[in-house]
Parts: sequence; C-alpha cells; structure tokens
Amino acid sequence: MTASSLAGRRIVVSAGPTFEDLDPVRFIGNRSSGRMGFAIAAAAARRGADTVLVAGPVQLATPAGVHRVDVRSAAQLRDAVLAALPADAYIGAAAVADWTPRAAAARKLKKRDGEDTLTLELVRTPDVLAEVAAHPRRPRRVVGFAAETEDLEANARAKLHAKGVDLVAGNLVGIAGGGFESERNALLVVGHDGVHALGPDTKTVLAGQLLDLVARGW
Ligand code: CTP
Repeated sequence: MTASSLAGRRIVVSAGPTFEDLDPVRFIGNRSSGRMGFAIAAAAARRGADTVLVAGPVQLATPAGVHRVDVRSAAQLRDAVLAALPADAYIGAAAVADWTPRAAAARKLKKRDGEDTLTLELVRTPDVLAEVAAHPRRPRRVVGFAAETEDLEANARAKLHAKGVDLVAGNLVGIAGGGFESERNALLVVGHDGVHALGPDTKTVLAGQLLDLVARGW
C-alpha cells in the first residue's frame, strides 16, 4: 500500500505532557515522552501536509518541515490548538493533565515544622480534544489517544463516544517493551466502523499507519 499523500491538508498534532505549576519550582505533570506525537507530525510533514505541532515540555528535536508551538500548561495547549484551526485533522497525542492547581503560588511553597500533610486544591483543565470535536470549526478528522493499563478496547471505545471523535488510538502503558520512553509501541485504533490493530512496531511506522487511517476517504 502506498502512503497517502497529505499535500494540501493541514494537520494539527499535540504531543508531550503538560505541566501544571504549583509554585515557581514545582508542578503536576503526566508521564509522556512526546515521541508518538512527534513521529506523527514528522510523518504528516513528509507526506506534504501543512503541519502544526503543539508541544508540551519535552526534549525532542523539531521534525523537518513542521511548525512547532511550545506550550507548558493545559490552558496554553488549548489556546495554541484552537489558534491553529481551521485544519483538516486534529490528532491529540498530548498527555494533557486532567487537573491543575486552583492557583499557582507566586513564591515557593515552604514547609513548616509540624506539618505532616499537604492538601492541594485542583480544578479540571479544559478537555481540548472534546472542545475541538465540538468546535464550529471542527476538523473533518479528530483523533484522540487513550493510554490505559487494562481494558484497552472498551476504554478507547468509551472515549470515542464521550468525546465525539472519529478515532481513538489506544495503547497499553505500564507494561515492559512499549509505551512511554520506548521507540516501539502498539496501537489499537477504535473507530465507528471497526477496530484496527497496529504494530507492535516503531513509532515512525505506527505514525504512518495511523495517518493512513486518518486520511481514509480523503
Ligand atoms: N485530552 C485533552 N484535554 C484534556 C485531557 C485529555 O485533550 N484535558 C485528550 C488527550 O490528548 C488524549 C485524550 O484526551 O487524546 C485522553 O483522554 P482522557 O480521558 O484524558 O484520558 P485519561 O485521563 O487517561 O482518562 P481516564 O481519566 O478516563 O483514565
């Protein structure tokens, strides 16, 4: 199968974690290397797409031909993704933090003698994927990711419906030989018309196969 050309298409990809600051030296964040999202953006650019990569804090080189926007928090990621619309596809590979401190302290939080516990008040972050899927300028294809430790297909399918997206790429995390820091992974891509098992393979190969599914029917 020849790779589908994406010339003339605009693809927005989010990648990496978000960091939600507690104070100037501490944050709450998700584990994510950003590699899967960077591989998708690289593959999209190689196929000729006008590619925007909204990247959380990661130490990865910008793929050739990709327009990169660096962000730190979920709120910043949301603003950058919405600013990149309209687009033909949004692929939400970022591990966006679900919770953020109600307020970030301007100064470093100091511990006091006798304090054995600390209670943090967290509030929900915007669900960028659901927002893009419900946006007046909704891309034709909206793709989410589901990192799960169990029940991959059921969890991915639940997200597909809950967030109103076209595809959810589920991957198992917390198991040896794949997931976070690895160059290899396997994806179970759940759509409205069925399930596609991709890999295990390199993230570069998986990125290409995922783009084939995204571009089906274009
Ligand atoms: N996502 C998002 N904005 C958020 C949270 C998640 O856009 N505030 C997107 C991610 O980019 C990913 C998908 O939603 O594409 C992940 O779904 P989510 O429900 O956040 O996953 P979990 O937090 O792992 O779900 P659960 O709490 O059900 O385990």
